[in-house]
Amino acid sequence: PLRGNAFYPNFHLAPPAGWMNDPNGLIYHQGVYHAFYQHHPFSENWGPMHWGHAISKDMVRWQHQPVALAPGEEFDRDGCFSGSAVHDNGTLSLIYTGHVWLNGEGNDSAIREVQCLATSQDGLHFTKQGVVLTPPENIMHFRDPKVWQEDGHWWMVVGARDASDCGQVLLYKGTSLRDWTFDRVLAKADAASGYMWECPDFFPLGDENILMCSPQGIRTQGHDYQNLFQSGYLRGHWQPGHHFEITQGFMELDHGHDFYAPQSFTAADGRRIIIAWMDMWESVMPSKEEGWAGCLTLPRELTLRDGKLLMVPVEEVCTLRREHRPLTPCVLKGHVQQLSENAQATEIILQWDLSHSDAERFGIMLGDGLSVFVDKQAQRLFLSRDYSAYGIQDSRSVVLPEGNLLELRVYIDRSSVEVFVNQGEKTLSSRIYPQPDKRALSLFAEKGQAMLSQGDSWTLSTE
Ligand code: FRU
Repeated sequence: PLRGNAFYPNFHLAPPAGWMNDPNGLIYHQGVYHAFYQHHPFSENWGPMHWGHAISKDMVRWQHQPVALAPGEEFDRDGCFSGSAVHDNGTLSLIYTGHVWLNGEGNDSAIREVQCLATSQDGLHFTKQGVVLTPPENIMHFRDPKVWQEDGHWWMVVGARDASDCGQVLLYKGTSLRDWTFDRVLAKADAASGYMWECPDFFPLGDENILMCSPQGIRTQGHDYQNLFQSGYLRGHWQPGHHFEITQGFMELDHGHDFYAPQSFTAADGRRIIIAWMDMWESVMPSKEEGWAGCLTLPRELTLRDGKLLMVPVEEVCTLRREHRPLTPCVLKGHVQQLSENAQATEIILQWDLSHSDAERFGIMLGDGLSVFVDKQAQRLFLSRDYSAYGIQDSRSVVLPEGNLLELRVYIDRSSVEVFVNQGEKTLSSRIYPQPDKRALSLFAEKGQAMLSQGDSWTLSTE
């Protein structure tokens, strides 16, 4: 019903109505992908959290299902917060955080958070099984359990905020999904890296381990200790004596405006996939005018190659391709070349030859609000948005990767843009809000020339 609206996506998972935040319980179970998500079905604003639910055969085309979890018990009275899913002997089991406000809604200084279990035989209807883990002493913020099975045990990481307001990831070991013991503090923030580490995830990739988390309150230059949210990862190895040694500190995962609370899971064939919420707590959300807010990113395959963490859309996304338009290699010189009059659902792959490009700025633009361009002098790639009607006017950027060829793979879906740079070395994901009649997609070069050595574009399925 929301599809007629200007911003509702064609091929990204968004709520059927109402509010969505974090992806939860991503899992491949008995031949089907399940995505649950933080959901408020009754309004376009955050509220008592439910778990929305959708299923898919290919991670790309989703079918909405009835809400899987609703708050209401004494232990999850004010919300079924984020968590994960596992299969336990054929049973689809959800482990989530029961959230209770002790001193009125929104008062973060008095809350109760516990980890809870719900199970399903048919993958559709869930029965709550109650509380399975309570917080250690002195920890109040204790949420977003991510559970997996390894070496004959269950394991769980939980995000926490310690008494000195530093984020932590706590590791628990279970003999069953109902019986957990504290194992260790897996990682701990310093004063600069966030007061609470939300949505932790811990998984092997290549011969390393990745610890993803979404810190609140990262200190950055210029914004000292604001309520900044950022999603990122740390890399490390297990050392003898069962010590997890972090070999690379916190790195941002995606460099766009809207990417938070990613969760990983393994695809049918073992690929490590992540999906994030494509919004941020600080974001302005103009789609609320249409009665909904929030969508998820495309599913992305994570790999480590030559020491680099790469993130590319899963290959299933290519099944969305419809009309193919190869672009003629060309030198753009101080002008604009239109690719499409009305880009609603589009993929475009551009290869720029940087050694033959001296333009001050070149790249693509959509309408008059979005541009993704190389700034030659700054040696950076920018994603810049200008939707002043909504008070949105800001840009994000990354350092240009080394080498003379720059490949940009760009997905546009109504109110989102996702840019994959050089096969996933960097990504930038942002929400965009062009008006329906301002969606012309063009290439441009300003003050000088830019050489497009190869290019392809596709319209994508909107069914
Ligand atoms: C992250 C988060 C989680 C929490 C959920 C509540 O975006 O704050 O820590 O479980 O959202 O909706």
